[in-house]
Parts: sequence; C-alpha cells; structure tokens
Amino acid sequence: MLIRKAPDLRFSDITPKPLYLRRREFLQTAGGAALGAAAAAMAPPFAASANAQAKTAAHGAKLADVKKSPLSTTGEMLTSFDDITSYNNFYEYGYEKDDPKQNAWHLKPRPWTITVEGYAARKGTFGFDEFIKPFPLEERVYRMRCVEAWSMVIPWVGIPLKDVIASFQPTPQAKYVEFVTAFNPAQMPAQTTRILPWPYVEGLRMDEAMNPLAILAVGLYEETLPNQDGAPIRLVTPWKYGFKGGKSIVKIRLVDYQPKNTWQVMAPAEYGFYANVNPNVNHPRWRQDSERRIGEFFRRKTLMFNGYADQVASMYTGMDLKKNY
Ligand code: MTE
Repeated sequence: MLIRKAPDLRFSDITPKPLYLRRREFLQTAGGAALGAAAAAMAPPFAASANAQAKTAAHGAKLADVKKSPLSTTGEMLTSFDDITSYNNFYEYGYEKDDPKQNAWHLKPRPWTITVEGYAARKGTFGFDEFIKPFPLEERVYRMRCVEAWSMVIPWVGIPLKDVIASFQPTPQAKYVEFVTAFNPAQMPAQTTRILPWPYVEGLRMDEAMNPLAILAVGLYEETLPNQDGAPIRLVTPWKYGFKGGKSIVKIRLVDYQPKNTWQVMAPAEYGFYANVNPNVNHPRWRQDSERRIGEFFRRKTLMFNGYADQVASMYTGMDLKKNY
C-alpha cells in the first residue's frame, strides 16, 4: 500500500480506481462524446465568461436575523471567504478544485423546491422559503475535514436538522434519512457525463440526523450560500468527512433502509456509510491522522470525530469503527 504524506493530495491520488477505469472506458466509447461536449462546454470562451460571472456572482444576499449559536467551534481562525468559495468539491461542475467556482454560475437556486417523502406524517413539496421559514437561522462555525486530508473552518448559517426532521413527524419505521440532490443537466454540465452516478445522494442514521450538531446550511459568512458551496441548501455534519455534506438538496426521504451514498457506490472499499472522521482508520491509500488546514503551512493532527467527540461519540458506542468506516 502506498502511503503518501504530501502536503496536498491531487485528484489523481484520490480518484478511486473504478472511477478512473470508468472514465477511460467512457472516453473510448460513444459516451465519450458527452464528456467531450461537457468539457467543451466548460472550456474557453465559456470559461472566460464564467470567470467574469463567478466574480460577480460569488457574493450572495445578506441574511437577516441570524443568531450566533453556542454550538459553534470557538477560538479557531476562520478560513477566508475566498478559500471557502474557490477550493471545492462539486462534481456536477467538474472534478478539479477550482471547477465549481468557474462553472457553478449555471445553477439557478430559485425557484427551488424540496420534497419530503417516506415514513412521516407531514410530507409534500415545499418552496424553499416556505421550507426554511419555521426554523431559526443560526451561525454555526464548524471545522470541515475533507477525506482528502485538508480542512477549513467555516462560519455556516443554517437551520437545525433535528427541528426540520421533527416537523415532518417521522413514524417509528423511519430509521434513516436519505438526502437526494439536484439532477438537472441543463444547469449542471458534468451531469451529461458519468464521472459519478447522478444524482449525488447521502444519508444519515436517524439519531445522527437528530444530533444537535447537524444542520442544513443555507449560507456562510452571513450571506446566502454561494452556488459552488451547494446553494440553496446543503447538509453539514461536522464530525464526518466532508463528502457527507450533500449539496443542492431537492429531496429528503425518511426510510427504513441504510441509504447507499454516492461515494460508497463508487468505491465501497474506500468510502463507507458512516464516514466519521477517524485518525485511527486510514483510507486504504493514504493516512488520516493529519490534515492541511487551508491557509496554513504546517500540517495539524486530525482529531477523533473532527474534535466533536463529546457531542457525538456516544452514538457509536460498541460499534467497530474499522468495519463501519
Ligand atoms: N454534493 C454534491 N451534490 N456533489 C458533490 O460532488 N461533493 C462532496 C460534498 N457534497 C459533492 C457534494 C464532497 S467530496 C465534499 S468534500 C464536500 O461536498 C465539499 O464541500 P465544499 O466544496 O463546500 O467545501
């Protein structure tokens, strides 16, 4: 096993083998035309106009009535707005870190609807504003640790997921929550390719979804969520690797099965359902005990549950976290 301690992992280091094979196979077949078309669609002069638009579109509207939450991480320097909005993973807009900033201007976060389905007394399709209105808008500063071993500190603005779930009145059969994100190739150019199975899906066990730390983020730095960070609404679970944070959610399902999340489907030996930050369990191809905080020079130690053990460890008592990665 190759263990690399480079300060930064490149996409070629993290891309699971199946993804590479699929991409190669894809390029060699008729489907390659679609990838070619998407690549062409994202190349200049498109990129040049995207650049100009990205500059103007990066800042959203100021959010009113945001309360500071006592659940915030304290004492850590915030990652700059610029870094949070220019170093992203959002494969619907390409797989390089700067692709989402260049290309996410395609996304139209309004009008937007969220559908609630499954084992719940209150279900239906809600307009975005109607959906978030009953809940407090809270600023929650959280560490975000990506599975690729970099991290950030982000001042999210979000609504408590536990309040949202409770408002649906789940029935006892609801054991898990599945988050389905947007499938809209007209606004998400890379969805015309097969770099991931679309739409991007994530899931939580019911007690995880009801943990007070989990939020649905609708903004950051007191502004509406920039497109590249998952506008208009995305999941944030700070004790888990960043890939759990599904962006641009359109459907929330209360289900009785453990949902198959996208990266688990892509590479089951590398990515699991739980994805709890765990310095003691390495990724099969690299270590997980240290991280590079974006904006810092020296690496820092990765903390168990990303430093949120006091609030979340009890949910996993008795579980083998090497098996349940
Ligand atoms: N959500 C969607 N819809 N598509 C994606 O490709 N990438 C995930 C997650 N949510 C992804 C997604 C991954 S791998 C990470 S690390 C985080 O978003 C990155 O969030 P950020 O770009 O806001 O830092």
